[in-house]
Amino acid sequence: MTSLVGNMVHHDARVGGEWWRSGTIYQIYPRSFADANGDGMGDLPGITARLNSLASLGVDAVWLSPFYRSPQKDAGYDVADYCDVDPLFGTLADFDTMLARAHELGLKVLIDLVPNHTSSEHVWFKDALAAAPGSAERAYYHFKDGLGEHGELPPNNWKSMFGGPAWTRVTEADGSLGQWYCHLFDSSQPDLNWANPVVQDEFERILRFWLDRGVDGFRVDQPHAMAKAAGLPDHPYVDEAGAGFIEGRENPPMWFQEEVHPIFRRWRKILDSYPGNRAMCGEAYVLPLSFMALWVRSDEFHQTFNFRFLDSMWEPQNLFDSINESFDAFDSVGAPSTWVLSNHDVIRHASRMGGLKGRPTASDGVGPNDPQPDRELGLRTARGATMFMLGLAGASYLYQGEELGLPEHTTLAGEFRQDPTFARTGGARVGRDGCRVPLPWEAGVGAANGFNTTGAGWLPQPEIYREYSRDQQEGVAGSTLELYKSALRIRKELKLGEGSFDWLPEFVSERALGYRNGDVLVIHNFGADAIALPAGSVLLRSVAGAGPTDPIGSHETVWIQA
Ligand code: NOJ
Repeated sequence: MTSLVGNMVHHDARVGGEWWRSGTIYQIYPRSFADANGDGMGDLPGITARLNSLASLGVDAVWLSPFYRSPQKDAGYDVADYCDVDPLFGTLADFDTMLARAHELGLKVLIDLVPNHTSSEHVWFKDALAAAPGSAERAYYHFKDGLGEHGELPPNNWKSMFGGPAWTRVTEADGSLGQWYCHLFDSSQPDLNWANPVVQDEFERILRFWLDRGVDGFRVDQPHAMAKAAGLPDHPYVDEAGAGFIEGRENPPMWFQEEVHPIFRRWRKILDSYPGNRAMCGEAYVLPLSFMALWVRSDEFHQTFNFRFLDSMWEPQNLFDSINESFDAFDSVGAPSTWVLSNHDVIRHASRMGGLKGRPTASDGVGPNDPQPDRELGLRTARGATMFMLGLAGASYLYQGEELGLPEHTTLAGEFRQDPTFARTGGARVGRDGCRVPLPWEAGVGAANGFNTTGAGWLPQPEIYREYSRDQQEGVAGSTLELYKSALRIRKELKLGEGSFDWLPEFVSERALGYRNGDVLVIHNFGADAIALPAGSVLLRSVAGAGPTDPIGSHETVWIQA
C-alpha cells in the first residue's frame, strides 16, 4: 500500500454552535426543480409544492439560485432587478409563500446575491449607456477609453471567464463608437465598480430588502472578483492563466483584492443586526485555503464554498491534502469548513467519478463527442464519496438531484445548449447545461417525469432520467435517495456535523482513506479489492445490498461505530 505524504490534521468537536456551522444545505436550481405552471421553466410555486420532499430528505436549509428579474443570458446570474421576482418564476407574493412554507417545515432559506455584475438590462447600466463618459452613471461600472489611435483596442488584456475578451465597446448616444466596459463573464453581465460608495449603498439596501422579508441569509456570487486593482492594469500572466489565476503566483488585478474585506465586514454587521442566525456563504474561489481563511474571519463571511475539496477529483493524495488544508485553514479563524461535491457549474459527481479522472477540472461539461462516463462506476463511487463527505464535521452542500444519483446529461445536442460558454467558445467548451437539466420526480408523469405535467422543458431530459425518478426510489431499500436519507438522519442523530476529526493512520493510503469523527469511523476504499472491516457495528454502507459483516467493497464507504 502506498502511504500518503503530509501532516495529519486534528479538529476538535464544537457542539451547540449556530446552525450554519454544521447544517446540510440543499441547492435548489429554480429553473429545473419543479414547474407548477407547466411552461417548461421551474418556478417558485413548484418549489413550494415540493418543499416537503426536502424536509423528508433531512436537510437543514435550502439555497436558491437566482429567481430575480433577468433576461436569463446566464441563467439568472444576470440580474436586472435585485428586488423583484422574474415572471418566469412567479411573483414576490409567491416568494413569500415559499419562504413561509420552508420555515413551517423547519428549513432555512438562503438566496443568491450577485454583486460582481448586473445584467446589461439593469436600469443602472441603461442609465450609464445613455450618460456621457465620466458621468456619475458610468461610475457604477468600469467604463474606459480604448487603446490604439482611435480607441479601437480594449483597455487591457483581461479575458472573460466564458471565453473571449472581458471588454465590449459601446455605441455612444450620438451614434459614435465610444468607451469600453468590463465584463469578467458574458458581455450581458457588466461588472460593477465596487470602489464607488453609491454601489456599496445600493447593495446594503438590497440586503435589507431580503432580510426584512425573512430570508436566513445569502450565497454570494463571485465575491473574489468584486474589487479590481486601481487603474485596471494588465493581467501579468494572462497567457498562462487565461481569465483565471495560478495558485502561488501574485494576485491578478481582478481577483482577491484587499478592498473586498471592509465590504464584507459591513454586510456581516447588517446580518448580525437581524434576529435569528442569518448567514452568508461566499462562492469564493480563493486558494490556497490558508488565504481563504481571511475571508471567514469572525466579522466577515460565515463560510465559503470549499472548491479545493470538490476539485480534488477524488484522487487519494489530493483529497487527503484538501481535508488537511481545510481543517487547518478554517480552524485557524474559528470558521466551519464546508464540503461540496456538486453544483450547477460542474459535472455532476455521479458522472465525474465514472472514469473521467483525466480531466483537469470538474467544470466545462461533457458533450456527445467526449469520452462518456461509466454510469455504474460513477454512481457507485459517488455514493461512497457523498457518505465520505457527510461524515465530516462542518457544513455540507448538496446539489438538487444528487440525492437521486442523477448523472450529467452528457449527450445534450448543441442546439439545446444555453450556457454562454458554449456560444462564446464556438462549442469548444460545451458548458454547464448538462448538470442543469430538469429533475425527474415521477417516472409515469408525462415526458418531463413530473417536473411538470405538460412535458415542456427548457432543457430536454435524457431518457435514462426515468430510471432515477424520485418515486422509483422512495422507500426502496438500497436506493440512492434512501441512502441520502439514512446518512442525513444518522449525521444529525450523532451530531457528526459538530464532531471531531482525526485520520485513522492505518487507512491513509492510495488504497483507502479513513477518519474518526467521535466514535464513528468513516472509511472509503479506492481500490478494486475488498478491505477487511474493522471491529465495530456498521451504521451505514454505500453499496446497496452489502451485508453487515462483508468486507469494504471497491469504491465503497462504510460508517462504523467503534
Ligand atoms: C458563479 C455562478 O455559480 C455561475 O453560474 C455564474 O455563471 C457565474 N458566477 C457568474 O455569475
